[in-house]
Amino acid sequence: MTPPLLSVDKLEVVYNRAITAIQGISLSVQTGQIVAILGTNGAGKSTTLRAISGFLGIDDARVTEGAVTFKGQRIENRPPNEVTRLGIVLVPEREKVFPNLTVAENLAAPFAPSMSNAERREREDLIYHFFPRLADLRTRTGGLLSGGERQMLAVASGLVCKPELLLIDELSLGLAPVVVEDLMQRLLQIRKELGITIVIVEQSAAVALEIADYGYVLENGRVVLDGDRERLTSHGDIQEFYLGQSSGDRRNYRDVKQYRRSRRWYG
Ligand SMILES: Nc1ncnc2c1ncn2[C@@H]1O[C@H](COP(=O)(O)OP(=O)(O)O)[C@@H](O)[C@H]1O
Ligand SMILES: [Mg+2]
Repeated sequence: MTPPLLSVDKLEVVYNRAITAIQGISLSVQTGQIVAILGTNGAGKSTTLRAISGFLGIDDARVTEGAVTFKGQRIENRPPNEVTRLGIVLVPEREKVFPNLTVAENLAAPFAPSMSNAERREREDLIYHFFPRLADLRTRTGGLLSGGERQMLAVASGLVCKPELLLIDELSLGLAPVVVEDLMQRLLQIRKELGITIVIVEQSAAVALEIADYGYVLENGRVVLDGDRERLTSHGDIQEFYLGQSSGDRRNYRDVKQYRRSRRWYG
């Protein structure tokens, strides 16, 4: 078997030298896969993504046990700029776009000053190919975008760095099912056309398992269940606790189903 692009091995992360947020998490991501990390609030999903991407220091957190290996290199506790240079980009949970910059300025923000105009244009064109809506919104400031447009821009700002591995934290949060469905389809298209490997964090298993090849369910900082899409969608626990868990989730899931049905009629 080919070695995984990313492997996380018995990882433990401690905040403020006191709070153990995740303990003994192991997961593995193959090149070209879409992998979902699922779980309720506080399960340790964001901490896992921060540990992989190096963004732990800002919260005074550290990997205290275990390893993160990317393309054969150990990367745990490396600074985020180094990890980014290796090809891992995080689309974080909060503060994903600069509210006072335009869409075009947001997209240009990660560019090195030395980058040629041709290269800039090529990368922008790539973004507008996947997100034509952002081309229409080029001159609008980030703060004036709708929730869905802001999430599009957040993914686009990650993509513009040409990552090999894109980590996306809670893309669907607070968005209407139709908007979520569209974003998920974009991720599939990005994976298909660019071959980028994607890890998505979601509270909604219904949303994530629509596009993920494989998923891990976290609870209290541990992996409690993992498997490919078929196994997880048919698993009793997932159906009970994650697909129909709260009335909010249930509504979401139904809405998505309804959206699909309506699309079949009209599309
Ligand atoms: N900045 C922080 N300082 C202290 N504890 C934190 C911090 N961020 C998260 N935690 C704790 O780590 C655990 C996992 O949180 P998190 O990774 O944010 O979960 P999730 O993303 O699944 O909601 C929680 O118990 C949370 O309270
Ligand atoms: Mg989180």
